[in-house]
Amino acid sequence: MTAGGMPRRSLIGVTGELFASTVPDGTCEALDDGATILRGFARGQEAALLAEVRAIAASAPFRHLITPGGHRMSVAMTNCGALGWVSDARGYRYESRDPLSGRPWPAMPATFRELARAAARRAGYPPFEPEACLVNRYEPGARLSLHQDRDEEDTTAPIVSVSLGLPATFLWGGLARSDRVRRMRLDSGDVVVWGGRSRHVFHGIAPLADGFHALAGRCRINLTFRRCRRPVPTTSR
Ligand code: SIN
Ligand code: FE2
Repeated sequence: MTAGGMPRRSLIGVTGELFASTVPDGTCEALDDGATILRGFARGQEAALLAEVRAIAASAPFRHLITPGGHRMSVAMTNCGALGWVSDARGYRYESRDPLSGRPWPAMPATFRELARAAARRAGYPPFEPEACLVNRYEPGARLSLHQDRDEEDTTAPIVSVSLGLPATFLWGGLARSDRVRRMRLDSGDVVVWGGRSRHVFHGIAPLADGFHALAGRCRINLTFRRCRRPVPTTSR
């Protein structure tokens, strides 16, 4: 993390609008019970992470998945790691192979795994071993409507979410869909970790504003690390 971070970000005002602020890199913002924004935690690694994303997409291309309801998602997705998240007419689930090629998903790069582990640790979680990394690509206008992450059996592990490229507005609600939704700006290099009592909080991404990012171009990339299968039970004596 860089020392002496520059004024570069926005916070939410009492009326909910985004305004410029001066939160430096390395700031740990408590978002909710069990949820933390680690400002700039991946800063300095962005170019290397994006190079890995390009390598992943070369063997498992980005695609617009179809929801069980028949809608084409505006976010394009791919995966790396032992398991990958997919959606089609049959539902949402994790698969060990890319349905497009029938091959296993690309391996999770060591840099990804280490970043996810370090972020979970920094946010106060016990050792985190991600099994799945969903790679989301947002082009201008793409959005992810308010949802809960419910396709994982292991709900004890947190979710680690890394933002790269264009800034986004993260929507953070509550445990009920009707709860008040807060809007938070996420910049390239920011990492959000949520678990514990926040594990099933409704969240999403507002339609991406157009722009150009020096490293990512006209898009935002999000890496979301999860543990999916039930943890191995520890035998107590
Ligand atoms: C997600 O909810 O899976 C992704 C959120 C994001 O793109 O930041
Ligand atoms: Fe999600």
